[in-house]
Amino acid sequence: MTQNIVVLTGAGISAESGLATFRDSDGLWENHHVEDVATPEAFRRDPELVHRFYDARRASLDGVVPNAAHHALARLQVAAREHGGRALVVTQNVDDLHDRAAAEAGADPRDLLHMHGTLRQAWCLSCGGHPDAGRTTLNAPCPGCGAVALRPDVVWFGEIPRHMDAIEEALWAADLFVSVGTSGAVYPAAGFVQLASAAGADTLELNLVPSDGSALFARSKHGPATDVVPAWVEETLATLS
Ligand code: APR
Repeated sequence: MTQNIVVLTGAGISAESGLATFRDSDGLWENHHVEDVATPEAFRRDPELVHRFYDARRASLDGVVPNAAHHALARLQVAAREHGGRALVVTQNVDDLHDRAAAEAGADPRDLLHMHGTLRQAWCLSCGGHPDAGRTTLNAPCPGCGAVALRPDVVWFGEIPRHMDAIEEALWAADLFVSVGTSGAVYPAAGFVQLASAAGADTLELNLVPSDGSALFARSKHGPATDVVPAWVEETLATLS
């Protein structure tokens, strides 16, 4: 019986909810230059452009809902806890679809880590607070300290992902590591499979097509996330009970 599961998710899990991925055709990095909108240098050079990019992404969340893959992972989070284990979802996504599905299922909020931050919050460069983001973070005063010093609360290229100590600890304790909807192009997330394997975990890739790192996984299943994730979760739930 698998007790400790770590699930890494990427943009592919939210694709069928209607959110663009990064590196697929018509992905965000086909239509924008990373160095214009997703680096600390870009923000220093042209904060308005960067705010506009993230404001648009935040606005796009209003029209989308979690899909069957988000809901299945939320069910797994709840069931794993009920059976004395844990299913930790580590997401590279800055959308809030895992959060919404987890809240609906009654999952423990500690079982979701946003390693690249979240669009729903801002980060005040004056007081260090993380207030809820309104419609725009451009020229908006921080609700905590009043300073006009908010930035999107996301991790840009060249910055350090969040929660790395907790994630590495969970990977060392994992019986199973599963990667969902990520191209395996960005580190450190792309290296989690090697860490989990070294720690003795079984590894499984669930992705539309084989990713760059597909050969590093012991097993893989390819197809749309809304098919392959619920199918895998149902199989796993049967082994928990
Ligand atoms: N179901 C499953 N997988 C899918 C689907 C789908 N419906 N649609 C696309 N995919 C897969 C693609 O085949 C691809 O392998 O999702 C993956 C998306 O890869 P990327 O666009 O590179 O997104 P991601 O891996 O999340 O990017 C990592 O890069 O730009 C940064 O910070 C950003 O968090 C992001 C990080």
